Amino acid sequence: MFREEVKQAMLAHPHWIERGTELAMHAYNIFSQHKSVSGNLLDIGCANGRDAAFFSSKGLKVRGIDINRDAINEAHRKYKNIKFVVGNAEFIPFEDNYFDFVYCTNTIMWTDENKSVPEIFRVLKSQGMFFLHIDTQVDNLDTNEVEHKILKETIMNLLGEVILTSEATLERIDPVPFKHSHIILELTGFKK
Ligand SMILES: C[S@@+](CC[C@H](N)C(=O)[O-])C[C@H]1O[C@@H](n2cnc3c(N)ncnc32)[C@H](O)[C@@H]1O
Repeated sequence: MFREEVKQAMLAHPHWIERGTELAMHAYNIFSQHKSVSGNLLDIGCANGRDAAFFSSKGLKVRGIDINRDAINEAHRKYKNIKFVVGNAEFIPFEDNYFDFVYCTNTIMWTDENKSVPEIFRVLKSQGMFFLHIDTQVDNLDTNEVEHKILKETIMNLLGEVILTSEATLERIDPVPFKHSHIILELTGFKK
């Protein structure tokens, strides 16, 4: 589990809102290689709505959820045509088999994956596609402490029956709120 002090430090310095839409564009390209990209998309941990707005610009009917009310208020202010909801990835406030696409980046580590990953599977339609960008390990480089760790096998077991269409392991170092590194597992696939 991601340490509470680390969560609080991150929330005080939400550096991810400075990023662009590259990851959303990348997910959209992968989706397009496998099916026509239309219907409902859920962005879990949508923060200020930047990626949700990108998917909406592509004609998808987008919903964004985030546990942080301030982030959701900002998303509402910026993108009035998208429905954003304060919500917890561990209890996703949508019915079973509702979404054609689920997109979740840099967020599962903030949750209890034993609850959030099955929830993603639950709200995704059969034949629906997911893009999960999962920080499998986060290290505080100043203290050499591992702040979070999760194995791919754990995620796959929790996801249920899926067909993986692509996967990649990536690394990133972020300087704030302290120097930390991410080892990221990027999974894209279909629910059977
Ligand atoms: C590191 S940010 C990533 C934001 C965005 N997905 C991105 O990649 O730029 C993690 C986000 O997850 C949200 N979050 C944390 N715990 C959550 C939970 N249990 N359910 C939904 N969102 C959560 C945080 O409020 C924050 O906006």
